[in-house]
Amino acid sequence: MSKNPKRYTVTAALIYANGPIHIGHLAGCYLPADVYVRYLRMKGKDVAFISGTDEHGVPITIKAKKEGITPQEVVDKYYKIIKDSFEQFGISFDIYSRTSNQVHHETSQEFFTTMFDKGYFDEVVTEQYFDETAQQFLADRYIIGECPVCHNPGAYGDQCEKCGSALSPTELINPQSTISGAKPVMKETKNWYLPLDRMQPQIEEYVNSHKEWKTNVMGQCQSWLKQGLQPRAMTRDLDWGVKVPLEDAEGKVLYVWFDAPIGYISMTKEWAAQVGKNWEDYWRDKENTNLVHFIGKDNIVFHCIIFPAMLMAEGSFVLADNVPANEFMNLENDKISTSRNWAVWLHEYLEEFPGKQDVLRFALMANAPETKDNDFTWKDFQTKNNSELVGIFGNFINRTLVLTEKYYEGIVPEAGELQEIDKNAIAALAQLPCDISDSLKNFKFREALAGMIEVARLGNKYLADTEPWKAIKTDEERVKTIMYVAAQISATLAIVCEPFLPFTAEKLYKQLNLKEWKLAGDTGKPEWRDAGKPGLLPVGTKIQADGLLFEKIEDATVEAQVQKLLDTKKMNELESKKVPELKPEIQFDDFAKLDIRVGTILEAEAMPKSKKLLKFLIDDGMEKRTILSGIAEHYKPEEMLGKQVTFVANLAPRKMMGIESQGMILMAEDADGSLALLQPNKQVWSGAGVS
Ligand code: 2FM
Ligand code: ZN
Repeated sequence: MSKNPKRYTVTAALIYANGPIHIGHLAGCYLPADVYVRYLRMKGKDVAFISGTDEHGVPITIKAKKEGITPQEVVDKYYKIIKDSFEQFGISFDIYSRTSNQVHHETSQEFFTTMFDKGYFDEVVTEQYFDETAQQFLADRYIIGECPVCHNPGAYGDQCEKCGSALSPTELINPQSTISGAKPVMKETKNWYLPLDRMQPQIEEYVNSHKEWKTNVMGQCQSWLKQGLQPRAMTRDLDWGVKVPLEDAEGKVLYVWFDAPIGYISMTKEWAAQVGKNWEDYWRDKENTNLVHFIGKDNIVFHCIIFPAMLMAEGSFVLADNVPANEFMNLENDKISTSRNWAVWLHEYLEEFPGKQDVLRFALMANAPETKDNDFTWKDFQTKNNSELVGIFGNFINRTLVLTEKYYEGIVPEAGELQEIDKNAIAALAQLPCDISDSLKNFKFREALAGMIEVARLGNKYLADTEPWKAIKTDEERVKTIMYVAAQISATLAIVCEPFLPFTAEKLYKQLNLKEWKLAGDTGKPEWRDAGKPGLLPVGTKIQADGLLFEKIEDATVEAQVQKLLDTKKMNELESKKVPELKPEIQFDDFAKLDIRVGTILEAEAMPKSKKLLKFLIDDGMEKRTILSGIAEHYKPEEMLGKQVTFVANLAPRKMMGIESQGMILMAEDADGSLALLQPNKQVWSGAGVS
C-alpha cells in the first residue's frame, strides 16, 4: 500500500437479505463507511464504495421457512427494503447490488476454481450432523446447541453470537436441528476445506504487519491466532447458494462466507461496467489501491483472517489495508434484537421523523460504538438534536444569515481592518478542518464529528464575543468585519459538515449560494481543501436563510418512542410467558368439597401497613363476612364497592395481620402478572352457589 494512495476500494458489509435494517446496522458499519467515503471524495480521491445484500446461506432459507415463501421471494423482498432505507439515509454507495446476480455466481466459482487448481483445498470426508426427519445435513444455523466456550444455550453451528467464537456444528453441546427440533444423527459427506492451519504463518505475518488496526479488531485477531487456526469447510450440503463448480459436487454449494466477500469483487465488476471503468484497478493495482472493509464486530474474523486467506491463496488481489470494525449499538440498555423486535427500524424512523435523517445520523455518530458497545437512548437523541444541532449549529447559521439579511440585504460585506479577535477566529477556523481530517484518516469518527461541531461553536462564540447586534448602534464599519468573518465560518461549516450531515450541507450550500463561490474547486463542488480558507465566501455573495436547518424535538415525541419500546417489551414478556403447568388430577369428590359462592362487596378498605391486602365486608346471602384479599396493587377499594365476586366459602378461617379472613376471593392471573376478578356475567343473588 502506498502512504497516500490515489484509489480507494471501500466496502461495507453485505448484510443478509432476510429482514429490514435498524440503527445498529447504521451505527456499526454504514454510517462510518459513508462519512469516510464522502470525505475521500471531497479530497478528490478515486473511490469505489461497494455494498449490497448477501442473499445466500442458511439465514435466508430459515427466514423463507418462517414466512412460508421461497428463498428467492425473501431476498427480492428485503433487497428492495434495505436498498431503499440506505438511499433515504444518504448512504452514498457507488453500487448496491446482490449476491444472487449472475456475475457474482461466476466470479465466486472462478475464484473457487483458481484455488482448487492451485491445490489449495483439502477434500475431506467427515461425519456431519444430519436431520433424518427433514432428510437434510445441518450446516451452520440449521443447528443450535450450547456454546462450548461461554455455554450460551442458543449458539449456532457456525458461530456463537454471545461470545463471538466461530464454531463448527460438532463442537456444540446437546445439538438440535432448527428445522425439526430433532436430535441429529451423524452421516458421512465430502467437503472442501481451506487449510487455515497450514496458512497460519502467512496470515499471522499479514495481521502483524497492521499494527495500526483498531484495538478491538486486533484483539479478536490475536485471540484467534493464539487459539490456532483450524481448517474450515468452504462448501456445504445445501441447495441454496452458489453451486460448487466441480463434477463430483452434486447438491453442494459454496459456504456463504466463501461467496459473500467475493461479492465485493463481483459488485465492483458490475459497477465498473456501468460507469466505464476498469474493475481491476480497484482490486489488482496493489501499489495504488487501498482496500478498506467497514463491518460490525461479528464479522471481524471473516474479514481479517478467512477472506485474506482466500485472497492470498487466489493470489491476484489486494488484501485489506484496514478493517475499522465497530462494536455493537444497544438500544435503551438492551441488546438490539430482531426476533424480540427490540430495535429502531430505519423504515419506521423515516415515516415517523420525515426529513430528519441527519438528526439520526448525528445522534448515532456522536455515540458510535467505536471502542466498546454503546447505548442509543431516545432522551440522548433529543438532547443531541436540541442542544447541539438546534442550539449550536442551527443557531449560529441562523444568526449569521438573519443579521446579514437585516444589515446588508444578504450581501456578504467587505471586512475592514482585522482585530485580534477576528484574527484568532480565522486562525482557529483554518486549523479545525485539518484536525477533522486527521481524525477521519484514523477512523475516529466521533472525534471528527466533535471537530465539526467545534466549527459551529467557534462561530457562536465569535458572535457572542463581538455582539454585532450591539455594535451596529455604535460602530457600523466594525459590524461589516464581524459579519464577513461569520460568513467565512458558515461556509467552512457547510463543507466540513457534508460527510456527516449531507442533507444539511446541501441546504447550506444553497443558502450560502454555492454557485457564487470563487474558491469552489475544480470539481465544481466544494472540496475539502477549501475549508478554512480565508475569503472562502467572497465579498458580494448573496446569502439567504430558507427556513431553519433543525427543529426542536419535543418531550412528547421522544416519550412516544419510549412508550413504543415499552409496549414491545410487554408484548415480548407476554409471548414468552408460559401457561402454568397442570396440577395433579383430582376426583369429582375432591372438587365437590369446595363450596364456591357469589357474594356482593358491601365495604372495602385498604389494610394499614400492607401494600397488597384489601379488606372486604361481603354479603354472602346469609350473613356478612370479612375476607382479606391480596389485590391492592390491582384494584382500588372504591372500585370494588358493590361488585359481585366469587369466593371459596368453606375455607378454614385464616388470620392475617391480626384479622381473620373468612374465605378467599377467586381471581385469574394474566400473563403480565396482573389480576382479574372472576365475576358472574349477570347479576345473581348473593350466596348463589357455583358448580
Ligand atoms: O453478517 C452478515 O450479515 C453477513 N451477511 C455479512 C457478510 S459481509 C461480506 F463478507 F459479504
Ligand atoms: Zn459462546
